Amino acid sequence: MKTLTHTFHYVLCTYAELSATDRQLIDAAKSATQRSYAPYSHFHVGAAALLADGTVVTGTNQENAAYPSGLCAERTTLFYAGSTHPNTAVVAIAIAAYTDGAFTPTPIAPCGACRQVMLEVENRHHHPIRTLLYGTEGIYIIEGGTRELLPLTFDASFLE
Ligand code: THU
Repeated sequence: MKTLTHTFHYVLCTYAELSATDRQLIDAAKSATQRSYAPYSHFHVGAAALLADGTVVTGTNQENAAYPSGLCAERTTLFYAGSTHPNTAVVAIAIAAYTDGAFTPTPIAPCGACRQVMLEVENRHHHPIRTLLYGTEGIYIIEGGTRELLPLTFDASFLE
């Protein structure tokens, strides 16, 4: 018997330390929060995906009175990107959340289902996604792709 270790690499930085491109992506995710439909949780999430051709697509969480029928901002964004730009890789995604009149101090973390969808998008396009998680007290950047966020992944290789 032996213990195996999954090491998770991520960067903590300030907004001022970001490149102009990363700042624009964070800004797009922050403004998207204002278009969220979250009448039940009042937790307004915005995501912005940068595509390989430079296009930025945004999306927000879309809630529903039948709670499970709603969808997170990350999946709304990635499904929209896949529907409108099916042949273009997603190279980065930024996520921000606004609640109680302010952006969250702690960087927002994508839920497990969204991580699974991020992984599928990476595998589909053979391109890792840089993930930027916004918080007013710091920003996390996951440079190494979704496998960093989702160890022991289930992917298409199991279905072969
Ligand atoms: N939510 C997202 O949109 N993304 C996340 O990463 C976490 C949670 C949404 C789902 C729901 O509309 C609300 O936030 C509260 O869970």
